[in-house]
Amino acid sequence: MKSYPMSKRITEDLQSVESGLIEAVSSPRGILSEIALDTLTAGGKRLRPALVLICGQAGDYSSQRLLPAAVAVELVHTASLVHDDILDRAVIRRGAPTVYAAWGERMASAAGDFLFAKAFECLAGLSDPAALVALSDAAVALCLGEFEQMQTAHLPHQSVEGYLGKIERKTAALFAACCRLGGILAGADEPEIEALEKYGYDLGIAFQIYDDILDFTGGAALGKPTGTDLRDGTVTMPMLYAMDELKESRALVAVIEALNPDDREVFHAIELVERSCALDRAKAQARSFVDRAIAVAGGLSNQAVAKQLSTIGEFVIDRYS
Ligand code: FPP
Ligand code: MG
Repeated sequence: MKSYPMSKRITEDLQSVESGLIEAVSSPRGILSEIALDTLTAGGKRLRPALVLICGQAGDYSSQRLLPAAVAVELVHTASLVHDDILDRAVIRRGAPTVYAAWGERMASAAGDFLFAKAFECLAGLSDPAALVALSDAAVALCLGEFEQMQTAHLPHQSVEGYLGKIERKTAALFAACCRLGGILAGADEPEIEALEKYGYDLGIAFQIYDDILDFTGGAALGKPTGTDLRDGTVTMPMLYAMDELKESRALVAVIEALNPDDREVFHAIELVERSCALDRAKAQARSFVDRAIAVAGGLSNQAVAKQLSTIGEFVIDRYS
């Protein structure tokens, strides 16, 4: 996977995020702390902490204030993945066994809760109510988005608007909160904070659309199996477009409705989607959300921040090319 170029200050502070993450979950020592440490050091793009730090340059940059928030957002993100893997019964993530696969459902659930609680312990240390509101609102949105995804699984007749609403909650709300947190903790003006948040929403939507494309095209580089959404009955943008183009093909409807589709059905559905224009249409949508995000960033008073946010935008839709 590609990485994204960062300024010296952000690169250095991202290294401090690594030690902050380890410190955050190291006590009290015990199995939960060890699982959390293993999970946090198993890789990850650290995109969300990077957003907090970059957006923290939109006002008075303070590593002391920004680092606990950067650590907290990565902890919430990791907690959500641990829980997501339980719900999806996923056994591989980032090329390694998930906590669910290695430790079972009950330990994974406890480890996810531990990571989540540690995130708020970290952020609470800043005694900034606006920051706490930003992250807790995003955490609530994540739960709602994930629940909505569960409720709509295996339903073949869904809309692009419905899909966008779900990913706004499931993914974009945390991206938006990262950007908002950076602005809040740097004491940026309210209109600037709102612009940062808007950037985060559009970036997060593009990120999830692209993630959903990679579920069809990703291959081994992804570190998780392809076709997972199809096996879970999760209807994403490429599937919606393929259903539209192929007039609700019987094979696609069947794979969405199947509770346990076999490999043959899944591979056939992937082939149908790949042969249609669905992936190109979804890529164009991801591109247009990134363009919107970059345009919003362009209106910020600090053009150096806008430039870094634009680099992140390009990275999000070009992660594996
Ligand atoms: C991964 O997406 C999962 C999410 C973006 C959100 C998961 C949210 C929860 C489980 C809600 C509760 C959690 C907390 C701690 C607030 P994906 O399944 O599309 O990506 P994947 O292919 O990497 O699994
Ligand atoms: Mg998942």
